[in-house]
Amino acid sequence: MKPPLPSSSSSTTSSVLRKPPRQLSPYLFSLIVFIVFVAILYGEDVMCIFSQQPQLPPDSARPSAATAFWGEEKRRNEKKKKKPKLPFAVGKTEESCDVFSGRWVWDESRPLYEESECPYIQPQLTCLEHGRPEKKFRNWRWQPNGCDLPRFNATMMLESLRGKRMMYVGDSLNRGQYVSMICLLHSLIPEDEKSMETFGSLTVFTAKNYNATIEFYWAPFLLESNSDDAVIHRVSDRIVRKGSVNKHGKHWKGVDIIVFNTYLWWMTGLKMKIMLGSFNDEVKDIIELSTEDAYRMAMKSMLRWVRINMDPKKTRVFFTSMSPTHAKSIDWGGEPGGNCYNETTMIEDPTYWGSDSRKSIMQVIGEVFSKSKRPITFLNITQLSSYRKDAHTSIYKKQWSPLTPEQLANPSSYADCVHWCLPGLQDTWNELLFAKLFYP
Ligand SMILES: *[C@@H]1O[C@H](CO)[C@@H](O)[C@H](O)[C@H]1NC(C)=O
Ligand SMILES: *[C@@H]1O[C@H](CO)[C@@H](O)[C@H](O)[C@H]1NC(C)=O
Ligand SMILES: *[C@@H]1O[C@H](CO)[C@@H](O)[C@H](O)[C@H]1NC(C)=O
Ligand SMILES: *[C@@H]1O[C@H](CO)[C@@H](O)[C@H](O)[C@H]1NC(C)=O
Repeated sequence: MKPPLPSSSSSTTSSVLRKPPRQLSPYLFSLIVFIVFVAILYGEDVMCIFSQQPQLPPDSARPSAATAFWGEEKRRNEKKKKKPKLPFAVGKTEESCDVFSGRWVWDESRPLYEESECPYIQPQLTCLEHGRPEKKFRNWRWQPNGCDLPRFNATMMLESLRGKRMMYVGDSLNRGQYVSMICLLHSLIPEDEKSMETFGSLTVFTAKNYNATIEFYWAPFLLESNSDDAVIHRVSDRIVRKGSVNKHGKHWKGVDIIVFNTYLWWMTGLKMKIMLGSFNDEVKDIIELSTEDAYRMAMKSMLRWVRINMDPKKTRVFFTSMSPTHAKSIDWGGEPGGNCYNETTMIEDPTYWGSDSRKSIMQVIGEVFSKSKRPITFLNITQLSSYRKDAHTSIYKKQWSPLTPEQLANPSSYADCVHWCLPGLQDTWNELLFAKLFYP
């Protein structure tokens, strides 16, 4: 057995130099030394020739080992730079452009559809039907600072959903965005080819000629809670069960595009009650967590569900950030005691943010998503919506129960400053979803 070469890191040439094989004549040895010397002297040129390889026509003769090496190196560099193409993507938004930072501009061509043309809007969101006198809120278009949004193309959206399921999962704000999407699409589908049905927590809009469904699943905390009844969910003492994402998640399996939201139901102003056992346990095991810790727990559960159930090569996952409320006009420098009632203009201050609890929740979202290895598309609609104190349903909606004379005397007391009129702001959320789906 030969002894191992002196240095594993040195090349064959240098090992020849240090340890000339004994059978070589001194002349041959000098010749080898000379060749090595020339090689080192012109090494750079040799490198140049190699690095020019990719520009040579493909059929030209090349030293195959060198080509393989440089080719490999090049591929590796490209891999590092290029992320794999996301499903549904047809292009890209300029990397420098944050579509969520921008301004609202007046647009005469809006709204994108009429309230009276979309029979799917629930009466809690049909503001004109309920007497809203001015309609300016419907004309604003979101203009990002760094680029233009692609025009919402309903044909393209429906074609991409052919044979597929899209699902919105979350609370009533996500339901509003869901209905907005249906309103944006439904006019392309003939009357007898579409239907909308509700089965408990699940609402399904079917476009038969596309074999596509767009669905909404009621799960205001994403996890199991005592507020899960799709109709009767107004409980004052909210409890969420830890580790229970599959309770609802089993109904989300097999969808191609999923859009999550959850926020408002966590904002009780108190610590959140977390059920450790089951809701059926006789002795209930409940702990209390800060809103942020409880929210973080839910976000992690959602991501775990996504990791196990959503194939990143075929499906897309969206998460919509917190929908802001406008319950206190002092937040934007208005009269004390007021809210979104009678507001017909937006907040002009570009730095306006509103209540601070949104900030800490945004931080939690940022932390959790930055650690996620799965591509989740984040729809950061909080800031752009926080300007829109004019876009809420306010008093122009179907009320859950008849109003008392005291309420009627003071309309701001029953104004809804949480939900949004349709058509309106939430169409923009879907335009942003459209932009991120096709041009991530
Ligand atoms: C909308 O999308 C369809 C299908 O991809 C395409 O044929 C059409 O040209 C698009 N329309 C506009 C206005 O871009
Ligand atoms: C319709 O879509 C579903 C998925 O939602 C798919 O499983 C099924 O094969 C499709 N049917 C046809 C006839 O394309
Ligand atoms: C509504 O706002 C207008 C001006 O923006 C004001 O003149 C009017 O008094 C307000 N109405 C009520 C009922 O507050
Ligand atoms: C969302 O946007 C706001 C302001 O536009 C920003 O402060 C925040 O960091 C963004 N959130 C995330 C998680 O990127």
